[in-house]
Amino acid sequence: MKRFKTIVLAAGKGVRMKSDLPKILHPICGRPMIDYVLNLAKSLDSLKTYVVLGHQNATVKKHLGGKVTVVIQKKLLGTADAIKSAQSFFRGDQWDVLVLSGDAPLLTKETIQGLLRKHRATKAGCTFLTAIVDCPCGYGRVIRDGQNQVIAIREDLDATEEEKKINEINAGVYCFHSRQLFDAIKTIGMNKKKKEFYLTDIMALFLEKNLTIETVTTQDQNEALGINTREDLACAHAVLRRRILRDFMLSGVTIEDPDTTYIDAGVKIGRDTTVHPYAIIENNVQIGSRCSIGPFCHIRPYSKIGNDVQLGNFTEVSRSTVGQGTLMKHFSFIGDAKIGKNVNIGAGVVTANFDGKNKNTTTIFDEAFIGSDSILVAPVRVGKGAMTGAGCVVTRHTNVPNGAIAFGVPAKIRRR
Ligand code: UD1
Ligand code: MG
Repeated sequence: MKRFKTIVLAAGKGVRMKSDLPKILHPICGRPMIDYVLNLAKSLDSLKTYVVLGHQNATVKKHLGGKVTVVIQKKLLGTADAIKSAQSFFRGDQWDVLVLSGDAPLLTKETIQGLLRKHRATKAGCTFLTAIVDCPCGYGRVIRDGQNQVIAIREDLDATEEEKKINEINAGVYCFHSRQLFDAIKTIGMNKKKKEFYLTDIMALFLEKNLTIETVTTQDQNEALGINTREDLACAHAVLRRRILRDFMLSGVTIEDPDTTYIDAGVKIGRDTTVHPYAIIENNVQIGSRCSIGPFCHIRPYSKIGNDVQLGNFTEVSRSTVGQGTLMKHFSFIGDAKIGKNVNIGAGVVTANFDGKNKNTTTIFDEAFIGSDSILVAPVRVGKGAMTGAGCVVTRHTNVPNGAIAFGVPAKIRRR
C-alpha cells in the first residue's frame, strides 16, 4: 500500500472526564487509550505519526517516550487548529494524511485499510468514517443531500432538532491529501458557540472548491466509540474485553464464563488452558498451556505461569514466576516469588513480601511442599524437595536446605 502519514489529535482537555489524569492516558483493559491508537497507526505501516498534544503535554510525552513525533498545540482552539499545529511537518509534501483521534481506541486495522483504499480509489478530497449508531447524541451528524452526497458534518451543539435525529455520525477518522488539507484549514472560521475551529467545517469548504467527499460506514458501531466521559470509558472497556476473550477462545483457550472474566490486553495464554469464572488477569502476564485458572483468581502484572499449573479459588499471584506443574489450589498470596516446578502450595499460604519499605523475594525450588497456612517472611528460600509444616512461620533470611523440614513458630529446621 502507498505510504501515508498520520496525525493523531490528542491535545484536548477531556473536560467531560472530570479527571486530573489526561483523558488519553486513562487505561482500558490495562493500557492507556492512546496506545491503542498509536498501535493502530503502527500496524497500518504509517510512514510517520505526529501526535498533537496540549493539555498536560509533559505527562503524556513522558508516557509516549520518544516513539512518535510530538507536536504541541499551544492553545486548545479545536480540532482544525490542532491539525494546523502539525503543518510545518508537511511543507512541500504531497502525502496522503490519515487523521485519528486519541480518544477513539476501538477502531480496527481492517476498517482503516478500507478507508485508505476507498480514498485512493476515488481520489476524493476527503474520505471519512461514519457509523450508524443507536445513540448519536454528542457526535457530529452526517448531513446528506437528496443524492446521498455528504454536504456537511453538523456538531451536536449546532444541530437543529431535525438534524439531531440523524443517526449517522462522524467517527472522527479522515483521509486527506496534505496540500488540500492545509490549504483549506487556514480558511476555517471560528465556531461562535464553542469558540473553536472545527475540522468538520472543512467539508463545506471542500465542496465549494469542487473537491469530493466520500465516506466508509463501519458495520460495527462500537468501532466509532469516542471516549468523552467515564460512561464511554466503561463501554469501551466492555467492548474491548469481549474482543480479547473472543481472540483467546479462537486460539484454543476455554473461557467458561465471558461475563465474569477480565483479561487485559497483551496477556498471553497457551492452548487448552481453562479460565474459570471470576478470574482477573492483568497486563504483562503470561500463562502456559493446560493450566487451570480460577474460579476467583487474580493474576497481577509481571507474572509468568508455566504449563500445567493450577491456580484455584481465591488465589493471588503478583510479580512472580510459577514453574510447570505447580499446584496452588486454595486461598493463597504469592508476591515477588520465584516458584519452581511441581511445587505444592497448600491452602492459605502467604509470602509476606513487604517489610514496610521494600518488596522482598521468596524463592521456592522444585518439588518443595509448602504446608497449609505457612507464612514465608521474605527474603526467604525453600530448597528443592523441602517441606514446611502446617501453620509455620519461616522468618526472614531463613534458608530451608534442600530436602529439609521447617516447622513451628518461628520455624525450626530439621534436616532429613
Ligand atoms: C469530534 C468531532 C465530531 C465526531 C467526534 C467523534 C469535531 C469538531 N468534532 O467531536 O464530529 O463525531 O469527534 O468522536 O472535530 N483535540 C485537540 N485539540 C483541540 C481539541 C480537540 O487535539 O483543541 C483532540 C482531542 O484530544 C480528541 C480529538 O481532538 O482526541 C476530538 O476532540 P473532542 O473534543 O473529543 O471532540 P468531540 O466532541 O468528541
Ligand atoms: Mg471525542
